[in-house]
Amino acid sequence: MDVRILASHAELSQRGAAIVAGLLRSKPDAVLGLPTGSTPLALYALLAESGVTFTSAMAFNLDEFVGVSREDPNSFATYLRQHLLDRIDLPPAQTHLLDGAAADPEAECRRHEAALQAAGGLDLAILGLGLNGHIGYNEPGSPFASRTRPIMLTEESRRAQASQFGELERVPAAALTMGIGTILEARHLLMLVSGEAKAGIVRAMLEGPVTEQVPATALRAHPNVTVLLDQAAARLISP
Ligand code: GLP
Repeated sequence: MDVRILASHAELSQRGAAIVAGLLRSKPDAVLGLPTGSTPLALYALLAESGVTFTSAMAFNLDEFVGVSREDPNSFATYLRQHLLDRIDLPPAQTHLLDGAAADPEAECRRHEAALQAAGGLDLAILGLGLNGHIGYNEPGSPFASRTRPIMLTEESRRAQASQFGELERVPAAALTMGIGTILEARHLLMLVSGEAKAGIVRAMLEGPVTEQVPATALRAHPNVTVLLDQAAARLISP
């Protein structure tokens, strides 16, 4: 694991954007996995402003809420369109967004997974880290071999979305997420973690026991992982 500690969220975002832009220059048809959350917002803004071309690239989202359509303002699809996809030249036909409102969620996950396999898998999975160690929405207890599937959200993860949905009761109970096994097949994993609140889970991810109870510890078995931390998120790790 290549763990880098940057002075600030701004620097972390610049470093992350440089990695993504560098990949697109060396491999214009790169296949990208895209997370949501507050952490990658500045990285997405920098990519949109960078002028790097995505015309041959492909993008897959990591997760989506069950029962929330792609057009819903609270969907991860809307987030990705607003913050990245509508601001770059990636052709919509090369964008694969899970449909949270699909009548058959299991089939929707199989469809997303099959499209990803047909694209040759992810060259780069950009990842955030949940407070409980989730990656995508792989909550604690997710098997490391798991594939794209529906999953029940923990109360903690639902609480983190309460302000987005207005109140906790409105946050969906379940999500669709790329599996940990699916994510681990990416040729490069780029994890971004920012802020004091994540310091404990960063330590667990990097220094605690490898366990399905901390899904992000699965990354430690991957040969090509870059972890970008700001100083606040790195506060509890060993020097
Ligand atoms: C979200 C998403 C993840 C994301 C994580 C961290 O809910 N399901 O893909 O990486 O939680 O979000 P944040 O960056 O806002 O802390």
